Amino acid sequence: MSTTTPIPSTKPSLLQNWISLTGIILATCAFFAVLCLIVIDSMAGFGNPYMGILTYVVAPAFLVAGLLLVSIGALWERQRRRRLAPGEIPAHPRIDFNLPKHRRVFIVVSVVTFVFLMLTAFGSYQTYHFTESVQFCGQVCHTIMKPEFTAHQHGAHARVTCAECHIGAGAGWFVKSKLSGSYQVYAALADKYPTPIPTPIQNLRPAQDTCEQCHWPQKFYGEAVRDNVHYMADESNTVWNIKLLMKIGGANPKHGEAGGIHWHVSPDHTIDYIATDEKRQTIPWVRVNNADGTTTIFEAEEGKLSAETIANTTPRRMDCIDCHNRPAHNYVSPSKSVDLALSAGRLDPTIPNLKKLAVEALTGDYKSTAEALQSIATKVPPAAVAEVQKIFQENFFPEMKATWRQYPNNIGHTIFPGCYRCHDGKHKSTTGKVISHDCNSCHSIIAQGSGTEGRKISAAGLEFIHPVDIGDMWKEQNCAECHTGGLAGQ
Ligand code: HEC
Ligand code: HEC
Ligand code: HEC
Ligand code: HEC
Ligand code: HEC
Ligand code: HEC
Repeated sequence: MSTTTPIPSTKPSLLQNWISLTGIILATCAFFAVLCLIVIDSMAGFGNPYMGILTYVVAPAFLVAGLLLVSIGALWERQRRRRLAPGEIPAHPRIDFNLPKHRRVFIVVSVVTFVFLMLTAFGSYQTYHFTESVQFCGQVCHTIMKPEFTAHQHGAHARVTCAECHIGAGAGWFVKSKLSGSYQVYAALADKYPTPIPTPIQNLRPAQDTCEQCHWPQKFYGEAVRDNVHYMADESNTVWNIKLLMKIGGANPKHGEAGGIHWHVSPDHTIDYIATDEKRQTIPWVRVNNADGTTTIFEAEEGKLSAETIANTTPRRMDCIDCHNRPAHNYVSPSKSVDLALSAGRLDPTIPNLKKLAVEALTGDYKSTAEALQSIATKVPPAAVAEVQKIFQENFFPEMKATWRQYPNNIGHTIFPGCYRCHDGKHKSTTGKVISHDCNSCHSIIAQGSGTEGRKISAAGLEFIHPVDIGDMWKEQNCAECHTGGLAGQ
């Protein structure tokens, strides 16, 4: 600053300080980086998740930081000059549109701000879409989400985006999910995530707002046929067919009888339950809240909860997820995945002992995928190696400790408690009513047996025949006590 009286218009700009200069350089570089990245990203078809993060999250962050530095520097410089020459610089800047310089500055600032706002709007829109995309959810943290992503790609919902089930519509959950999402990004970067990722998700959005947008409970499902083909762990991989008529039912009397399996989600009553473990596999207390305001409480014979525990616990309200907990991420068990490959012809059932060898190879305790693939190559006949390795890569994730074991599927009762968490015949009300355990209440077996000759077919339903002779043990014990997803009885 000169010692003579300064003429205001020739005073050095407030931006002439190191902070603002650094800011200007940073912002300019970031601005050009954003432009270049947008061009590159568009040439790549906006398909690469890492690119997207860089373009719409990282680079703009630098741009904003640069602009902030510019203003901070200018404010700081102004303060400094006021301190050097008290009284000479007024408390607030003077803007006078009669001065051509002020008009020019105003126009330039307005135009630049407008252009920047438009770019930010476009960028935010891209970012928004990008963070909603399956690539973002599934591939950005790819080791962590690999199990969920892979299973999603192979399931019935491969074309339903992660966000449609995990976030749903509306601003409230969007904000909530972005908040917890930011923590997840931090956890991923800081290596603080648990393996396996725990299930169930404690604060998953209620199914009414997600699943029911596509599958509304009033929609009638009727009955559906399930054709399960099994192979025995013997030398000839003996086939055993079970054809079940599932009484899925519906919840709308207009479309048929409201009952069957989907009775649980009928709008005229609700079901609450208390589970005593994290994974909701042990359920000693169930309450049906009837339409007329009465309730029926069913309690397990074993492990009854004390009145105090019940009073101090908030029960969970049953919805779709309590049965369909693996609609998108189903890790198929070794036994079932090998059965599926054999019945589809991807594995050759004429190879002796193949079912047994393949299941044994898949159930090994592996520390890494590479180790497993190597071991599989030595454990199964050469003709089956590639397919068994493929099964492993689609359903087993040693790096995340994710396999069918950690993620019980609640539909059915053969390898997990599933429906038997309540329907084990041991949940009773005070009046002696029991939650049904009758084999025909949920399905009827319309065909079963080995090959085509021994196959019995009946529209009325057959009594279950266990494929190998175990006497009446299948009546006395739950299937899951012997069947765990590997080889039964071992
Ligand atoms: C059809 C709906 C649906 C879609 C689509 C979906 N999920 Fe899920 N997801 C679920 C349900 C249901 C659960 C289990 C919730 C529970 O039991 O509490 C779950 C659980 C998870 C879990 C917790 C671990 C586990 O397996 O229980 C993660 C992580 C996850 N999903 C990530 C994703 C990612 C990533 C995508 C997209 C690639 C995705 N999800 C797509 C419904 C879905
Ligand atoms: C965006 C729409 C959409 C949402 C949301 C959705 N689904 Fe689906 N669902 C589908 C479609 C499409 C199919 C495939 C239909 C078919 O195969 O006929 C399907 C199939 C299914 C099936 C039967 C197929 C199978 O083998 O698994 C079940 C069960 C199911 N969904 C449950 C759920 C549950 C539970 C949720 C919530 C966690 C959910 N869906 C959310 C669209 C959706
Ligand atoms: C009490 C457990 C239970 C509840 C609760 C439940 N379901 Fe189901 N659902 C089943 C069973 C069991 C099947 C037959 C599955 C099978 O055989 O693979 C089924 C089948 C389905 C199917 C496939 C129908 C077909 O024709 O193949 C869809 C879709 C479905 N459920 C959606 C839902 C939705 C949406 C909800 C929540 C409104 C829901 N379910 C609640 C147990 C349940
Ligand atoms: C949280 C406990 C619970 C679970 C888990 C459960 N149910 Fe139920 N279910 C009930 C209760 C309670 C009733 C009503 C019992 C009564 O009033 O007699 C019921 C009734 C039924 C009925 C008879 C409906 C009618 O028409 O009257 C069927 C069928 C059924 N459940 C199938 C299933 C299937 C299949 C599964 C597993 C996919 C399952 N349930 C899982 C609690 C449960
Ligand atoms: C509460 C409802 C319910 C009851 C009670 C019930 N089941 Fe099931 N069962 C299911 C469901 C759900 C499935 C899964 C169907 C599917 O998607 O494969 C199933 C599957 C099966 C299968 C096919 C298993 C496979 O892997 O191929 C057999 C066999 C079977 N049940 C036999 C029985 C027998 C025997 C009883 C009586 C001791 C019984 N069930 C009682 C609901 C029930
Ligand atoms: C006491 C133990 C035990 C009980 C209980 C039991 N099983 Fe089995 N099961 C076995 C054995 C052992 C085999 C023969 C294993 C093999 O050859 O793969 C077998 C084989 C099977 C097979 C053909 C091979 C396979 O694993 O796919 C089916 C299907 C089957 N059982 C269904 C059931 C059902 C459904 C129930 C419940 C209603 C049940 N089992 C209860 C021990 C049991």
